[in-house]
Amino acid sequence: MDALVQMQGLVKRIFVILGTILIIILIAFIFHVIQTNSFNSMDREVTAESVTMEVTTDIHPRGLVTDAWEKNDAFPDKVINAKIYEATITNNSKCLLTDWRLRINIKEDCYLNNAWNGVIEVHQFSDKEKVQVLDLRNYDVEDINLDYYLAGQDLLIPLKKGDYIVYYPDDSPSSAELPLKSTKDYSGQANIGIIMYSLSGDVDLSDFEMIYHIHKSYFAGLSGKIYLFLLPSWIGLMAVGGIIAWIILGFEGQLIVQKHMLDDTFNLCAIVADAKDYYHRDHSKNVAKISKQIAEQMGMDKNDCEAIYYSALLHNIGNYAVPEKILSKATKLNDEERKIVHMHTVKGAYLLEEVKTIPHAAEAAMFHHERYDGKGYPVGKKGEDIPLIARIIAVADAYDNMNREKMYRKKYTKEEIIEEFKKNSGTQFDPNIVDVFLRIIDGIEE
Ligand SMILES: [Fe+2]
Repeated sequence: MDALVQMQGLVKRIFVILGTILIIILIAFIFHVIQTNSFNSMDREVTAESVTMEVTTDIHPRGLVTDAWEKNDAFPDKVINAKIYEATITNNSKCLLTDWRLRINIKEDCYLNNAWNGVIEVHQFSDKEKVQVLDLRNYDVEDINLDYYLAGQDLLIPLKKGDYIVYYPDDSPSSAELPLKSTKDYSGQANIGIIMYSLSGDVDLSDFEMIYHIHKSYFAGLSGKIYLFLLPSWIGLMAVGGIIAWIILGFEGQLIVQKHMLDDTFNLCAIVADAKDYYHRDHSKNVAKISKQIAEQMGMDKNDCEAIYYSALLHNIGNYAVPEKILSKATKLNDEERKIVHMHTVKGAYLLEEVKTIPHAAEAAMFHHERYDGKGYPVGKKGEDIPLIARIIAVADAYDNMNREKMYRKKYTKEEIIEEFKKNSGTQFDPNIVDVFLRIIDGIEE
């Protein structure tokens, strides 16, 4: 039973430790989430001048001017030349690149002809500002409200210094730019393309800025992976711990009820043992308490002290066999009556042999009237041949008898009790136990 109680204590302590660690992990994770959200919502910018390792953008021509790209059908008096420009966006952030918008400021006269891998927002400032978002891979000329020219099948949107275009990804699944997660760790590269016409074929697109966000997963990086492992494992541990604690606590509840039932039963036996003599009421309970205090003072462990308490509580259970008229007799007992009284030890021990859960209870009942000098009853055991528990109960029993009024005498004063113990130490009582008892006598409750 005690082993089970100890195990319950251990399980509770483990559960408390696991719960505390889980709370710490959760608090740390909440801070991690707040920190990650703050990181993800931060506005970031990259320009031709500001180079970062996180995300880089580079706009450069692809290929050379060719005859095929020379247009002479657009305007009667001039020939314009085309060039493909690419903007390479490289994501080295190990996070998802989101919400990027690349603004290219136009520095000289040119014509926007085509663009791909995204949509483009054109801002013209010819007389008043004209703005339109276009998908130049798929448009209807009638919908265009910007200034434009048509040269055969080619659309030419004139741009001049001060105009600008904004390139950003569309929502189409075929769009290759968003999110830039071409590899498993979200790093990657995308190219957007533009075809520009100009008189010389070279257009200066070096004035640009890209605004973007990057999105980090809560479980990315080393710390995220630690949380990904720790959180479910710890919650799993807590669940298992909770089930174990629930089972063990159920046992504990049963044990408490059983202990109360045991206490009630033994107290009832003690009341019955003392019931035949009015002047002995609560005697067994007092002897039990004092015996336990002596055992504690002697340094015995908790289990032995408990066993001594219950043994002392039942030490006079054999009184059931002694007639009330003898037990409560006010005058001196005759030999026959004395023999009957002495038999309460043997009768009690006989009963308590059946109580296996209290070690030495039978010995306590049998030998609590033995004397240290061997002149006691029922056997006449001497010295340390008398079981220790019986020697302890003998002292407690004598104290409670002296400390109560009897039909034929008043109760002893404390000084008289101490004197009596000193006088009989080594004859009636074990002198070592008398020494221990006299050290705690002041603490004994009335
Ligand atoms: Fe007794």
